Amino acid sequence: MEFEKLISERYSLRSMDATRYVEREKLEKIAMSARVAPSACNLQRHRLKIVTGDAEIKKMQGCTTCHFNAPAVIIISLDKDTKDSPMDENSGMKFGLIDIGIVVAHMALEAVTLGLGTTIVGMFDEKKIREEFDIPDTQIPMLIMPIGYPDEKGAPCILHKSRLPIEKTTEWYNISSKN
Ligand SMILES: Cc1cc2nc3c(=O)[nH]c(=O)nc-3n(C[C@H](O)[C@H](O)[C@H](O)COP(=O)(O)O)c2cc1C
Repeated sequence: MEFEKLISERYSLRSMDATRYVEREKLEKIAMSARVAPSACNLQRHRLKIVTGDAEIKKMQGCTTCHFNAPAVIIISLDKDTKDSPMDENSGMKFGLIDIGIVVAHMALEAVTLGLGTTIVGMFDEKKIREEFDIPDTQIPMLIMPIGYPDEKGAPCILHKSRLPIEKTTEWYNISSKN
């Protein structure tokens, strides 16, 4: 899919068909899109847990109100270990968060190419997610991504169309020449 089309087609899908399971190959492709994401010092500190299955999804629904009836949910955690990098703890955390942001952007766009939808979700009970899904102390669960096919109500919400004017976010800085 052409890139401009891809980024314009993505929106946060919040109404999914709970009965239509996501094919394993598609979830694998989404995980592969995270694998190729750039990261600070190439540390690749994202850790994914792909949750599927009726019982497991039920557990997930107890951890967040933002599950949107998804039949699959990816938990994205940050590995706290920066010992192989020149970063101190602060930069390690700062760049780690940025890395996670890039990873979820890759996965959200890959989902669109596969005919799926997702929402990047930060609202969940971290303690419960840790306990229910065996996230070790060496990792911090940062975001989750419910993934699925849209149901008949699946559509962009009003926020999707609300974007700041380009002048508000972007300025040209070029005082030395005319080009
Ligand atoms: C880091 C991050 C956390 C988010 N957390 C939530 C969330 O907890 N619940 C939710 O419904 N949407 C969440 N969103 C989705 C945003 O609300 C959404 O991207 C924004 O309103 C723009 O809409 P769009 O994605 O449809 O273009 C989150 C997005 C990001 C990037």
